[in-house]
Amino acid sequence: MNYKTQFVKIENLPPANSFLSCSESAYLQTLRSEKRKGDWLGGRFALKVLLARESGFLPLCSLPCPDSWTSKIEMSEAALSVLKQIEVVKLPSGAPQVFVGSVPDARSVSISHSNGWAVAAVSPAQSLLGIDLEKIENRSRVWASEFFVEEERGPATDEHLTKVWTQKEAVVKLLGRGLSLNTREIVLQKDEVQLKGRALEVWQSLQSPQIILNSTRFDNHFIFTVAYAVAPAAMKFARI
Ligand SMILES: CC(C)(COP(=O)(O)OP(=O)(O)OC[C@H]1O[C@@H](n2cnc3c(N)ncnc32)[C@H](O)[C@@H]1OP(=O)(O)O)[C@@H](O)C(=O)NCCC(=O)NCCS
Repeated sequence: MNYKTQFVKIENLPPANSFLSCSESAYLQTLRSEKRKGDWLGGRFALKVLLARESGFLPLCSLPCPDSWTSKIEMSEAALSVLKQIEVVKLPSGAPQVFVGSVPDARSVSISHSNGWAVAAVSPAQSLLGIDLEKIENRSRVWASEFFVEEERGPATDEHLTKVWTQKEAVVKLLGRGLSLNTREIVLQKDEVQLKGRALEVWQSLQSPQIILNSTRFDNHFIFTVAYAVAPAAMKFARI
């Protein structure tokens, strides 16, 4: 699996207007709730930092840039101006698409947020990526029976159900459709995914790339899943 991630604690972000482009700042004004604003900003900041670092843009490289940012983030004016050049646009499906200096970036990206954390991931152009971060918390049997098929429920512990849920969400993001897909048509067993119905049709339309999952614990109380696939050459920009 060839991807990089960046975690940030949303409370540590620099001021929004210091790293957003003009159109991103205008979009931020349309968001109503403070929580949604924080989540949206956290995802964008994490993704911009990650892309700037991966692209080797100079001013960032001279600064401390930990993979998981847990203290107040301070950046030079030069570094912040690099971040302003990287724009993260929302596609009609809700999926993020990056533009660098108005040019679409072919790399695959994904964003997730949960309980004060935001995380972004990037993988090379010829790949597909979906990520999900969720806090391990109480998951009822009723909830599980609504979204899971029988054989997925396994030990039915909160940790197991949270892990399977992150895997479903990571896969629906990789497929670019979000929860417009039926989660019961994305069946997870022992970290292997089996698709049915509409989910299967979407996957076949992407030329059936093999999906690999990696689920890990994060910050003690969270599960983080990456769904990754190598994409056939002709497919990538069909998602834009
Ligand atoms: C995408 C979805 C699975 C996210 O689940 P979640 O656990 O609530 O939220 P997460 O924090 O893990 O992920 C949210 C991120 O997923 C990404 N995302 C949204 N839709 C996506 C899609 N179709 N494909 C890939 N990624 C998507 C976005 O980057 C979003 O963050 P942002 O809006 O701040 O940029 C789910 O919310 C969903 O399907 N929503 C419906 C999207 C929708 O309504 N789209 C059509 C109209 S905009």
